[in-house]
Amino acid sequence: MQTGVCYFPEHWPRERWEADIERMAEAGIEYVRMSEFAWNRMEPEPGEYEFEWLAEAVDLVGDHEMRAVLCTPTATPPKWLVAQYPGIRQERPDGTPLEFGSRRHYCFNSPEYRRESRRIIERLADRFAGNEAVAGWQTDNEFGCHDTVRCYCDDCTSAFRTWLRETYDSVDALNDAWGNAFWSQEYTGFAEVDVPVPTPAEHHPTRLLDYHRFASDSVVEYNRLHADLLREADDEWFVTHNFMGDFEPLDAFDVTEDLDFAAWDSYPTLHTQQAPDTPAPEDAGADLHRAGDPDVTGMNHALYRGVSGGPFWIMENQAGDIRAFPYSAEPDDGMIRLWTHQAAAHGADVVSYFRWRRCQFGQEQYWGALNNYDGSPDRGLEEAAEAAAEFDSLPDLDAPSGDVAILVDYDSMWALHSERHAPDFDYWAHLRTYYRAFRRRGTTVDLVSTSADFDEYAAVVAPSLHLVADDLADRLAAYAEGGGELLLTVRSATKDEHHRLRDELAPGPLADALGARVEQHESLSPGLETRVSYEGETYDYRTWAEWLRPDGGTVVGHHESGAADGEPAIVRNASGDGHLTYVGVWPEDGLADAIVVALLERAGLPVGERLPERVRLTERDGHTWITNFRADAVSIDPDSGSVVLGDTTVPGRDLAVVDGPAHGVSVDIDDEA
Ligand code: GAL
Repeated sequence: MQTGVCYFPEHWPRERWEADIERMAEAGIEYVRMSEFAWNRMEPEPGEYEFEWLAEAVDLVGDHEMRAVLCTPTATPPKWLVAQYPGIRQERPDGTPLEFGSRRHYCFNSPEYRRESRRIIERLADRFAGNEAVAGWQTDNEFGCHDTVRCYCDDCTSAFRTWLRETYDSVDALNDAWGNAFWSQEYTGFAEVDVPVPTPAEHHPTRLLDYHRFASDSVVEYNRLHADLLREADDEWFVTHNFMGDFEPLDAFDVTEDLDFAAWDSYPTLHTQQAPDTPAPEDAGADLHRAGDPDVTGMNHALYRGVSGGPFWIMENQAGDIRAFPYSAEPDDGMIRLWTHQAAAHGADVVSYFRWRRCQFGQEQYWGALNNYDGSPDRGLEEAAEAAAEFDSLPDLDAPSGDVAILVDYDSMWALHSERHAPDFDYWAHLRTYYRAFRRRGTTVDLVSTSADFDEYAAVVAPSLHLVADDLADRLAAYAEGGGELLLTVRSATKDEHHRLRDELAPGPLADALGARVEQHESLSPGLETRVSYEGETYDYRTWAEWLRPDGGTVVGHHESGAADGEPAIVRNASGDGHLTYVGVWPEDGLADAIVVALLERAGLPVGERLPERVRLTERDGHTWITNFRADAVSIDPDSGSVVLGDTTVPGRDLAVVDGPAHGVSVDIDDEA
């Protein structure tokens, strides 16, 4: 486990570089990421290449026994390029082109932009091929940031038509798959199908879904262009991309097929404010504003470990206060180090900070860094150096791998988000309900795609797996039959892969194995009664209710309120050597805990004590991190292994590491401390 930092030599006088780079090495940093926005400095005029300044910076990095991560600079096409090819700009749904003056103003499907990207990448890769100081590359920067995956320009319209032709062969097949008999929406040729620009009422859901698939695929193709060119130049380099956490419009699994591993950019206090399932900023309190929510950050770590199929990187880690909206409190002392360890515990091999030094100009002067804008160390630097030294004291560890999987399906998310049916029906928040419940019990959870090998897991949770094609249904049924514990939740297996309700009631192709069908559903606003009984106790739920008709399955939960009062809410059925369980409500914490505990027990997995709020145990390759996001101390008592970092008293915003398993560690709130 190592640390890195993001550096922008083009922002500082040449005379300053050596001092900066020397201080990075002194802080134990081993990787320096550079050049993601520097196209204009690499090519100030069309065809006039200037890479020597960057080569000098790379040499300095190498001289200090660190390695550079370079980036293709395509997130910021320079002014001359936009002037030469105005058609490369993205368009909003109303046809407004995105103007030069910030970043990410290009369209992924513009043939001119692809050609120009190829040209600069080839030159750049050629200049650095064979340079030992360059470890690898980041493609572009945060694909999709500022809402830029989905573009509505003419190039996208024709690329969308090509995508549809390749997907459906004939327009009759498209009409049939989408169900275009509805509201006279049938087409007579692919050339008639537009990208979904504004219409009076909402769009046809399958047209939207296919457009969302197409837009994500366009980024996949564009990223592949980068990865292929870089590998052609030097096959020793790794190629990665810095994703943005639980981001909706881009399928990170698909993009990563062309990468060596995924990286993501972690800003815990920003992501906590943005998550729809955390308190509003006005009600959040110091814990969330100054330390973030451990499960919001933790689930993103698990996601990118799943996307990578092993260790991942944090390419940008929060290094201080940030220009987050609406507020940006200073993180508490200790948080930079604690976030760094939390990432490592979840499988990050490198945690790289954004950025070395706060910038003195441009849009991000209010974004904190390891050093202040005058070059003096800021609060984060010491903590980053401490974490780097602590990593050196720990052995090399394989990535964590869990016995429980949560399935992530972007198609289902796109489908649900186009028909939320309740303003607070958010796919990631629903997933997090289950993730959080497992983490409160110290269980390691893998987030994996639906193409994962389910048999590697004792339990598989499919939260709102809305679209289920027949072959996926067969694999899920076979998993349960072969001894797996399959948990389906609200809105799972409701529709086929074309976003259409099936001939049979949900969960459609899994209804027989479950021994129950979903007969009715409703969305419930806050203020309406939402009570359910489960194995003798009464619990609350939120947002969504379904009532089930059993047909062989055992009813283990009933509605206790509202229109569904008395109706079955949760059904379980034995199937072969395993079980299927269907949870027809979105559980609040108490019910989520009870469901998860029962699932772990049936799966034969250890059930940990419920952890104090905001304390998490994370096991990586036989080592367990105890991360304390609370303000007060906790004491730990490992029943096997010893404390190899920290102490048995873990102060607030601090951590300890034990060389033993998570389920052997008990944690108590330390009243004495
Ligand atoms: C990230 C981005 C960086 C920088 C940072 C702070 O989203 O990749 O370039 O903008 O946020 O704003």
